[in-house]
Amino acid sequence: MSFLPTKLTRRLFPGHKRSAVCGKGGSGKTALVGLLAKYILGHEKKRLLLIDADPTMNLSMVLGVKPEKTVNDIRERIIREARSAGRSEKENLARSLDYMLFEALIETDRFSFLVMGRPESLGCYCPVNDFLRSGIETLAENYDIVIIDGEAGVEQISRQVMKSVDIPIIVSDISNRGLQTATLIKDVIQSHHKIFKYTRMGLVLNRVRGQEKELEQYILKTGLEVFGFIPEDPDVTRFDLYARPLLELPEDSPAYQAVSRIWVELNAEHFPGPMRLPSAPGLFP
Ligand SMILES: Nc1ncnc2c1ncn2[C@@H]1O[C@H](COP(=O)(O)OP(=O)(O)OP(=O)(O)O)[C@@H](O)[C@H]1O
Ligand SMILES: [Mg+2]
Repeated sequence: MSFLPTKLTRRLFPGHKRSAVCGKGGSGKTALVGLLAKYILGHEKKRLLLIDADPTMNLSMVLGVKPEKTVNDIRERIIREARSAGRSEKENLARSLDYMLFEALIETDRFSFLVMGRPESLGCYCPVNDFLRSGIETLAENYDIVIIDGEAGVEQISRQVMKSVDIPIIVSDISNRGLQTATLIKDVIQSHHKIFKYTRMGLVLNRVRGQEKELEQYILKTGLEVFGFIPEDPDVTRFDLYARPLLELPEDSPAYQAVSRIWVELNAEHFPGPMRLPSAPGLFP
C-alpha cells in the first residue's frame, strides 16, 4: 500500500499511465492486455482506454466487444475525401477529425476501446497519420490508464498511435526467438529514447512451464528488467478455444494471478526503483 497520497505520488512519479505491450507474434500480448484490463477493472476505479494497434485485431474477442469502425476506416475516408477536396474543404476535414475519431471509439460502461485496424492503402500518408495520432493523444488525456496491444515492433505505435508511452512491456514466450525479438525491440526503444520517452521498460515471460532455470542466461542477455512471469494456463487455452472473453477468466486462474502481481508491482509508485534481474543464482526457485 502506498504511504503517500495519490495526488502527491502522481506529481512525484508522473506518467505511469500509458503502457504498450509488444513482442514476438503469438507470445501472448493480447492475452496480457486482456488480463491487465481484467485486473484494473476489478480493482481500480480508473478510466481505462484499451487500444488494439495490432493489424490482426484480436483484442476485441478477448474483451468481448465488437468494433464497428476502426481508425483505419477513418484514415481511408479522410484520404478519399482529401483527394477531391479544395483547400477550405481540407481545413474543414482536419477540424472534424476529432469528431470522426469518436465514431471509432467504443465506450462500454467499464472501459473504452479503440481499434486501429488494418491499413489497406499503400504509401505513407504521413500528414493523415500525424493528424490521427495527435487526435488519439488528445483523446487519451481523458483516461487514467491507456494500454496498447501492439505488434512486434514499437515503431508503428509511435508513428500511428502515440509518440511516447510510459511503460513499454515486452512479452516473450520461453523461446530463444522470443527473447531475441525482445532484445531487438528493447534496442530500438533505447536507441530512440528521445522519441519514446519511457519511464520504465521490462520483460514479461509468458507460458512458463518450469524451464526458467535453463533460460536464465538467455533472459539475462536481453538486458531487460523482468516485470514478471506468467505460467502456462489451461484456463486461457480453454477460453481461447471457446472464444470466451478473458475478462471472464476465473479469479484464481494462475495466469490472472500472475498478471495481477505484475500490475501491482508496476504501480508501486512509492518504490519506483527497477527490479533488476540479479545475476546471483537462485533467482528462479
Ligand atoms: N499463459 C498462457 N497460457 C496458455 N495459453 C496462452 C497463454 N498466453 C497466451 N496463450 C495462448 O497463446 C496464443 C497466442 O496468444 P496471444 O494471442 O495473446 O498472442 P499475441 O502475441 O497477441 O499474438 P499475435 O502476435 O498473433 O497478436 C493464444 O491462443 C492464447 O490463448
Ligand atoms: Mg495479439
